[in-house]
Amino acid sequence: MASMPSARAAPDALARRGARAQPAWRRPVRHHAACARVRRDARLGTCAYASSSAPTARASGAGGGGHLAVGGDARLSGLVRVGGAKNAVLALLAGTLACSEPVTLTNVPDLRDVRSMIAVLESVGAKVTRLNESTGDARTVSDVDGLGTLRVDCSRITSSAFTIDTVSKLRASFFAAGPMLARTGWVEMPLPGGCAIGARPVDLHLRGFEALGARVRVTEEGTVVATTAVGDDDDADGACRSTAPLRGRADMSLRFPSVGATHSLMTAAALAEGTTVIRGAAAEPEVADLARMLNAAGADIRGAGTDTITVRGVGDAKAAARMANDSKKKGVLDVASVASLGGCAHRAIPDRIEAGTFLVAAAVTRSSIELEPVILNHVRSTMDVLEAFGCAFETSAVSEKSRTENENETSREVRLRVIPPASRTDARPVTFATAPFPGVPTDMQPQLCVLASAASGVSFCRETVFESRVAHVEQLRLMGVDAVAEGETVTVRGGATTGESEVSDEQNAYAYETRDVFGSDLRATAALVLAGLCAKGTTRVFGLEHLDRGYERLDEKLRALGADVARREE
Ligand code: EPU
Repeated sequence: MASMPSARAAPDALARRGARAQPAWRRPVRHHAACARVRRDARLGTCAYASSSAPTARASGAGGGGHLAVGGDARLSGLVRVGGAKNAVLALLAGTLACSEPVTLTNVPDLRDVRSMIAVLESVGAKVTRLNESTGDARTVSDVDGLGTLRVDCSRITSSAFTIDTVSKLRASFFAAGPMLARTGWVEMPLPGGCAIGARPVDLHLRGFEALGARVRVTEEGTVVATTAVGDDDDADGACRSTAPLRGRADMSLRFPSVGATHSLMTAAALAEGTTVIRGAAAEPEVADLARMLNAAGADIRGAGTDTITVRGVGDAKAAARMANDSKKKGVLDVASVASLGGCAHRAIPDRIEAGTFLVAAAVTRSSIELEPVILNHVRSTMDVLEAFGCAFETSAVSEKSRTENENETSREVRLRVIPPASRTDARPVTFATAPFPGVPTDMQPQLCVLASAASGVSFCRETVFESRVAHVEQLRLMGVDAVAEGETVTVRGGATTGESEVSDEQNAYAYETRDVFGSDLRATAALVLAGLCAKGTTRVFGLEHLDRGYERLDEKLRALGADVARREE
């Protein structure tokens, strides 16, 4: 299989314009390699790109600072309503840039990252309104508490240039680069840096743009500039800089199944002229969800959710040139489309990582709870680890409220009950390695380390997707968990403790009165909350600016299950 050409022979023009000899996105990336700078960042709990913690919403769950006071010895019971998937919704929102008619998205969770992505879209001209399902009223997102149903109108793009102040709030804003390039023939997007879990380069995105016929350069300031223009007109300032769509590519191949690169390239290919085949694509459910939305808006994408995706693009070079000339003649200031899809209505899939986090909460507190809606196929690998630990599962139909249309065998939503092992001695150690879907998700690794601490015996948890996603281990040790990270492998001795802590027989409770711990990223913070639930004393979990990016009202949902969890501002 032919792999994609590396950056098309660095044209002189690009070199003249100051492309670096070794731009950040071209530097060779070694997976699982130690990265001193990233580790330093991880210790600081900072992220070069997604560093802003300025709250964009209220503390109802989309807030920011403070801590959660998590009471230990929790017993949970009841039903959890699982929200729409953060990582699907972020991709869907970015994908709306490919659509020149409004898109209605339902099941949108109220999360800091979702609000940040909306701000990214609004900064280039999108109109985003929240629809009140019962009255049909529309209000701007900033006016309301919950999100629920959004109408995203990207019919009038006012700029192809994203600015650092909006995109720096979340790395997923880079998912918008492909759709914007394909829609308008031009994109300027600041490069994301590394963050607490790894270096996170974007070489696959940029090589993919080049494979689709774009010219790509990175400015000295670290902004990606990509154009479909064939001439030397990419220095022109303002609208209508290109009149050409991207070109389909039959032999595109990703060296790693990057979720973001698959989102971005699949959407870009949907607007290209000709057919693109993406091999080695990410098979995550969020990719399939994005393809469903784009197809509903007029795209022709097949195979999303497998490692080979075939996209027949809607782009048409002649039509694009006509459209661009028309808008020039009319003196339209807005950026012209070189290709676009129509509009549609789409409901986001349920969040498999939120579901997995609650499954672990039940297992480590030896509680039985129910979750809905859950798509079993999406949480299978997490359930496998829980089954190895000693949990059992029962499924039943979802309640009327959660029932949806258009489901098939593999996407049917169910209610899932988890039944934990009877005692700690019945809880078996686990061994797993994270992997792209359908493997164990890297986004569950910190929580599954907490699961391992509740087992009787030694577990081995290996991270293979990101090169430095083990910062939670140090914090878990502070709580008394006997866990050691060597490279990307975490060894957890369930039933043993570090320091003065004790483990009780009833649970895996680490005995202390109050401990302060700090989450360095979203999932690490969630893991600390889970560990707090089965401690003996109170754990004060800091890092809510991370937690609120991806869990909608985790504290409220845990309280509703009977946990003693309080949000404190200090
Ligand atoms: N990678 C490259 N080059 C690229 C892109 C990725 O080398 O051009 C590498 C990354 O450095 C990483 C691996 O590939 O080592 C996987 O990265 P991927 O691109 O798949 O991750 P992403 O798209 O940036 C999404 C999720 C993450 C999740 C990963 C892996 C969203 C918004 N984010 O990130 O979610 O961990 O896929 O499944 O979809 C989270 O929710 O906590 C989270 C971090």
